[in-house]
Amino acid sequence: MDTKNSLSWLTLFLHWIIAFTIIGLIGLGLVMTNFEQYHYYDIHKSIGIILIGFILLRVLWRIKQGWPVPVSKYDKREMLMAKIVHWVLIVSTVLMPITGMLFSGASGHGFGIFGLEILHENTDPADPENVIPLNRFLGGFGEVSHEYLGYLLILAIVLHIAGALKHHLIYKDPTLLRMLGKKL
Ligand code: HEM
Ligand code: HEM
Repeated sequence: MDTKNSLSWLTLFLHWIIAFTIIGLIGLGLVMTNFEQYHYYDIHKSIGIILIGFILLRVLWRIKQGWPVPVSKYDKREMLMAKIVHWVLIVSTVLMPITGMLFSGASGHGFGIFGLEILHENTDPADPENVIPLNRFLGGFGEVSHEYLGYLLILAIVLHIAGALKHHLIYKDPTLLRMLGKKL
């Protein structure tokens, strides 16, 4: 159970495993697209698909537990800002793998988990090097939304980390320590 004085092991485990994996996937996504590192695509897709299990479990856990209660009372605007950022973080962690699968699937490239195919590549039988899109519109929509949601997620993560550091270094309250497992 999450309480004002401590967060449950499940909250801590899910927060940190998802946080570090998402930061890694964003880094890998930006490297592979900007430097055309095509051999990383399968690793990116596989890890993203595996993460869906943790992301959905976290959403269910938040529905059951609600958001963590703030360690003390703050300025109304700051509380609102933190709430908005938490919502953007949790909703975009759900939408990122969905749009990624939409892009890969509809553009004909398929996806799977480390060689275990979920949706196979749609190649031209006459020319196996040529990938045929299943649906150009959905493929394009998936690509654009995966990219722009990624930028929104980066902005939210920067604000979120800045907020966590502000609590720790300026307010000197235990918000960050509680997320690191400290019992207050
Ligand atoms: C939470 C999970 C994920 C995060 C945070 C994430 C993040 C990113 C980011 C930041 C990029 C670079 C975007 C750009 O500059 O165009 C990217 C690219 C990409 N991602 Fe993901 N991704 C996730 C999951 C997935 C999944 C599950 C798939 C597919 C099954 C996927 C497929 C792709 C593909 C194919 C690209 C390359 C896009 C292009 O070539 O334009 N991603 N991802
Ligand atoms: C490494 C940098 C990070 C730090 C230092 C950090 C710190 C924190 C702290 C201190 C809280 C507790 C806030 C409170 O008590 O109200 C929190 C909650 C939260 N964080 Fe992070 N966080 C980080 C990365 C991330 C990332 C990358 C995501 C999303 C992908 C994320 C998503 C969330 C969410 C949704 C919550 C609300 C509680 C929960 O569902 O676990 N965090 N974070």
